Amino acid sequence: MNSKILIVDDDPLGIDTLKSILDKQGYSITSANNGAAALKKADEVLPDLILLDIMMPGMDGFEVCQRIRATPKLAEVPIIILTALDDRSSRLLGIESGADDFLSKPVDREELRLRVNTIIRLDRYRTLLTQREDLRQMAERVVTAQEEERKRLSRELHDDLGQALIAHALNLRNLQSELPMQPDLLAARLNTLIADTNQTINKMRLLAHDIRPTLLDTLGLRSALETYSRDFSLRTGLPIIFEADLKLPEMSDVYSITLYRILQETLTNVIKHSKAKNVWVELTVEEHNIVLTVQDNGTGFSTEEDTSKKGIGIKGLKERLTLVGGELVIRSSAAKGTIISAHLPLEESYRLKEKI
Ligand SMILES: Nc1ncnc2c1ncn2[C@@H]1O[C@H](COP(=O)(O)OP(=O)(O)OP(=O)(O)O)[C@@H](O)[C@H]1O
Ligand SMILES: [Mg+2]
Repeated sequence: MNSKILIVDDDPLGIDTLKSILDKQGYSITSANNGAAALKKADEVLPDLILLDIMMPGMDGFEVCQRIRATPKLAEVPIIILTALDDRSSRLLGIESGADDFLSKPVDREELRLRVNTIIRLDRYRTLLTQREDLRQMAERVVTAQEEERKRLSRELHDDLGQALIAHALNLRNLQSELPMQPDLLAARLNTLIADTNQTINKMRLLAHDIRPTLLDTLGLRSALETYSRDFSLRTGLPIIFEADLKLPEMSDVYSITLYRILQETLTNVIKHSKAKNVWVELTVEEHNIVLTVQDNGTGFSTEEDTSKKGIGIKGLKERLTLVGGELVIRSSAAKGTIISAHLPLEESYRLKEKI
């Protein structure tokens, strides 16, 4: 879409001159010949740049500038002031009123083109940066909201459903003991029922724990990662050596959960894909980063090919890390196995912590 320029001048000749200079530059140009009309036009077209004459009868350029700055939806529009008054005081007044740049009349054609080009390019870049930051913040909120929801879900599963199932199992057991003669068949059936219920309770516990690792809240990151590695090792029979720096800085919730999810996915991948005999997990602070490394001595994989076509696990980890300004580094070879390390910048964590 063409950038929109609004020219404000009480002199029609002034407007025509500027239009002719900016003609064929690919801009869409509109004009106004007094202050009030300028405010109205600006509100209608939301220009990308305003070229504003200062000396106008009625509302002068300074006042137009101030009013534009005071209008929220126009407050960021770049304004170049055009004035015959090439003196210091009017330039100062221009700055005070909120102008971004100046040009003296009569304008130098080449200078005007260059300034307009530069200001529009910079403004596009600034808008892009703002949009990117908005997007990043939104994604961060989505992850936080998702974790909050998981926390709630996990609590309900555990507290509500879990308690109900436990009561159910107890009732069955009571019923069994109250049977007058305990006929074998009935007793056996009840036994199966009790075993099934207990299995459901265990499954549900695991699920609740996976959805929101409560250990993170109670024990903190280091112990939560260590416990997860130990349980994983017990469950799968894969030997895991866990090491962590003794002194870890305090981290935001978003960081802890990101690191926890990385460990979950990378260990699951090791079991699913690598045929490794050993795994090493390490959590350290290196310069300005907190680094989680998961290394295995398995089959390795082609990082480009396998991660682009196959599952969503590694892609998801990369996205999570991008959100907090970190990165995932994968080194993998058939001879040596795989080393995956997640680097998260610590300053970002403090910033996130302050927000919480
Ligand atoms: N430690 C590993 N050793 C060997 N291959 C691996 C390892 N980790 C990942 N891979 C390879 O990388 C691919 C992509 O992993 P990713 O976690 O993204 O997907 P997935 O595990 O296949 O599926 P999903 O995680 O979505 O359930 C895997 O399919 C596997 O081929
Ligand atoms: Mg996976």
